[in-house]
Amino acid sequence: MKYHFNLEYFEKSADYVKSKIDFEPQIALILGSALGRLSEDIKDPVEIPYEDIPNFLVSTVRSHAGKLILGELYGKKVVCMSGRFHYYEGYDYEQLVAPIRLFKLLGVETVILTNAAGAINTGYRPGDLMIIKDHINLAGASPLRGPNDDRIGPRFFDVCNAYDEKLRNLAKSLAGECALRVQEGVYAYQVGPHFESPAEIRFLRMAGADATGMSTVTEVLTAAHCGMRTLAISLITNMGAGVNNNRVDGAEVDQVAARSAQEFRGYLKHIIKHIGEEA
Ligand code: HPA
Repeated sequence: MKYHFNLEYFEKSADYVKSKIDFEPQIALILGSALGRLSEDIKDPVEIPYEDIPNFLVSTVRSHAGKLILGELYGKKVVCMSGRFHYYEGYDYEQLVAPIRLFKLLGVETVILTNAAGAINTGYRPGDLMIIKDHINLAGASPLRGPNDDRIGPRFFDVCNAYDEKLRNLAKSLAGECALRVQEGVYAYQVGPHFESPAEIRFLRMAGADATGMSTVTEVLTAAHCGMRTLAISLITNMGAGVNNNRVDGAEVDQVAARSAQEFRGYLKHIIKHIGEEA
């Protein structure tokens, strides 16, 4: 067996991070590239480069900075990942549990994730947001494969409420505060780094998916395994391949993400402020 990621392994990472802070973060933020700047609003930030954290991973995507930023954001104690890890970068699936396991051991209860996604639902348009209510995992594997440490979570676990209903309701109740259209839908995860083929997009539409992307599901599964709540929101940056006879253009994805980032950040700010009030 290649890895044995038991509790003690992740405690090494957590002990190091705890030695740098004097508070317990409640919320973890894992933000897609365009939203990374939200972390600039963190008060009295403590920044910890990933490479300093024992048993952690090092980011390979150049646009991602590769550090944890901890502090207070809109009245909440947070830990923010500046730079996230994707399977397409070459990590083994099992390694991708590291951030969420670390956050759990720091005391985090709620994980907020954002990503860029292509629309499969023809009623969506670039610039919309989609609160993820469920996913279709096309990776063919789980980050929870391999030896299970029952102290972290059970071998077999349910994912029906992986996208916490109360958090989704909170996000929906605040949608009026956001100038972007807020949809709710199913996210199809494929590992990339290629975009989907037009036939795959048609297939995914028949399967009930509304949008597709290359992230988030590994983190959500890891969080569900250890009993953390997640809220995940996609920014629709483009129509999926072939939806309008279009190709998917990486530059267009970045442009739409940059254009909508400020509105999206404002919306997240409202959500973070109100976390803890959800019924
Ligand atoms: N497919 C997969 N991932 C994406 C897309 C897409 O169309 N757009 C942004 N991320």
